[in-house]
Amino acid sequence: MNILVTGGAGYIGSHTIIELQNAGHVVTTVDNLSNSNQEALRRVEKITGKPIEFHQFAVQNRAKLEDLFSSHAFNAVIHFAGLKSVGESVAEPLQYYQNNIDSTLSLLDAMNRHGVKKFLFSSSATVYGTPEELPLKETSRVGIGITNPYGQTKYMIEQILKDTCVADESFECTLLRYFNPVGADPSGTIGEDPSDTPNNLLPYAAQVAVGKLKEVKVFGNDYDTVDGTGVRDYIHVVDLAKGHVAALNHTSQGANAYNLCTGKGTSVLELINAFSKAADREIPYVITDRRPGDVASCYASPAKANRELGWYAERTIEQACADSWRWQKGNPNGYN
Ligand code: NAD
Ligand code: UD1
Repeated sequence: MNILVTGGAGYIGSHTIIELQNAGHVVTTVDNLSNSNQEALRRVEKITGKPIEFHQFAVQNRAKLEDLFSSHAFNAVIHFAGLKSVGESVAEPLQYYQNNIDSTLSLLDAMNRHGVKKFLFSSSATVYGTPEELPLKETSRVGIGITNPYGQTKYMIEQILKDTCVADESFECTLLRYFNPVGADPSGTIGEDPSDTPNNLLPYAAQVAVGKLKEVKVFGNDYDTVDGTGVRDYIHVVDLAKGHVAALNHTSQGANAYNLCTGKGTSVLELINAFSKAADREIPYVITDRRPGDVASCYASPAKANRELGWYAERTIEQACADSWRWQKGNPNGYN
């Protein structure tokens, strides 16, 4: 298939392009490089030995999008492009609503005009807000207890896509709800490259391991969990990337949500421990206050994706830590 990937230079997009190209798909990507580096795409080309057609512009740019759709016959769109920092979204809500929602509307407009009917969306576990049950299922309640504008954009976009599918029965949307992506391509040449101090646990721990940061701050150890620290469903980014290929191969009517997750919860201390083993060094940490907006546990059932997409998360936390460490050690300053 001829696939348009938005946000392809980013962390998940770059790993997904590898899997798409390996599966024989032809990839064009649009990225404004607001949170990424074109070097990621050059490295992906080296890994796969196949070219990526790259266009640098913001997906909200309707004129450029129109030119692109006029000159290509896309079979499907995978929409990764979006801003994703929770804290920043609280400080700059309009920027988040504008960027994330308008980029989706522009894409849907262009797809509508050019008869492109298949759309895969990077949604998030955040749509479940405060989990009403564990493990979460696709039928679990969504939209209640979302604590920040970033999460609201994901929830709103899911609604927009559902409405679009109701209005046009031939339109197919897959809402891929990612849990906590970690790890890197085993080559060690591409990986997560946060432009600022990382907000997420694993990239933070990796920067502590490489000596760029002093110690991990563990946000609370008084939760009702195995060791009192927060529990999450960490999924290897290569498994996540393969989930997109599986979703592309699947045909279904309307808007369908899938949890891309492992079904297993891992605590903060368990993850620090696994990373420390992978890096063969101690990772210093201190216990601090809880982070506002955090929940104790969040993990989900992958049963629907297993059953309907034939997709399984196969890689372990240990592999994710080893792969992430290979990337961090070989590229202490990311792509710079
Ligand atoms: P990322 O920031 O590494 O990648 C996003 C890419 O989109 C970047 O290359 C950025 O430059 C680009 N971009 C942003 N806005 C754009 C715009 N308007 N036009 C063109 N390009 C634009 O993030 P990621 O971790 O790869 O996440 C990809 C998607 O998955 C995002 O939508 C994110 O919200 C979602 N997601 C990520 C996580 C996670 O933990 N990483 C979890 C759940 C969902
Ligand atoms: C966070 C976002 C979520 C977003 C996801 C991916 C919040 C409240 N949630 O999820 O909306 O989709 O990132 O970008 O920000 N932790 C520490 N010390 C740290 C960092 C994290 O102890 O320095 C703990 C957290 O309290 C949590 C776990 O590690 O228990 C994972 O945190 P993180 O990696 O930030 O992911 P989420 O909070 O699950």
